[in-house]
Amino acid sequence: MPDSVLVAYGTTNGSTAQIAEAIAEVLSKEGLTAEALPAQAVESVASYDAVVVGGGLYAGRWHKDARRFVRRHRHELAERPLWLFSSGPLDPSASERDIPPVPGVKKAMDRLDAKEHVTFGGCLEEGAKGWVARMILRNGKGGDFRDFTAIEEWAARISAELGAAAPGRS
Ligand SMILES: Cc1cc2nc3c(=O)[nH]c(=O)nc-3n(C[C@H](O)[C@H](O)[C@H](O)COP(=O)(O)O)c2cc1C
Repeated sequence: MPDSVLVAYGTTNGSTAQIAEAIAEVLSKEGLTAEALPAQAVESVASYDAVVVGGGLYAGRWHKDARRFVRRHRHELAERPLWLFSSGPLDPSASERDIPPVPGVKKAMDRLDAKEHVTFGGCLEEGAKGWVARMILRNGKGGDFRDFTAIEEWAARISAELGAAAPGRS
């Protein structure tokens, strides 16, 4: 049986969900069993061999669904290979350099012994919820800064680490 991987995400406007889906798609193509699910909809991670958790960044914090997810499932997550990602910057910075995790995510990383964290660019487009979002858009600061090539490369590295294509694997 191939490893089964959960890609759980916290999103308000859907762009982190699309990143999670892109990751799950790469993992599936590489021969793993992978699914992307909203973090708050996951009751248990017991049936997964490895987990990826991602959240949009809001006011310097991970999306609350991602925060609650890592708190609720901390015991199971600490026993599994775990990768974390954030999605936020509304500029090209995430494609230009490594952006460290925000403090809360760094803490989760350390506590759960996560393998890696990466920050991807974010996306904010017309129709986003909330007055702050509307203000950002009105000031012309929105846009889609997600780098799907980088996202797919990261997912491919995860699958390589999980040994998806390892010869002799049953
Ligand atoms: C109210 C608000 C606060 C935000 N705060 C941050 C932040 O602190 N850091 C950051 O990098 N991006 C921030 N962003 C950008 C979002 O993280 C970005 O739009 C992200 O892609 C949202 O993910 P989602 O579409 O999955 O909800 C903020 C956006 C909004 C609307």
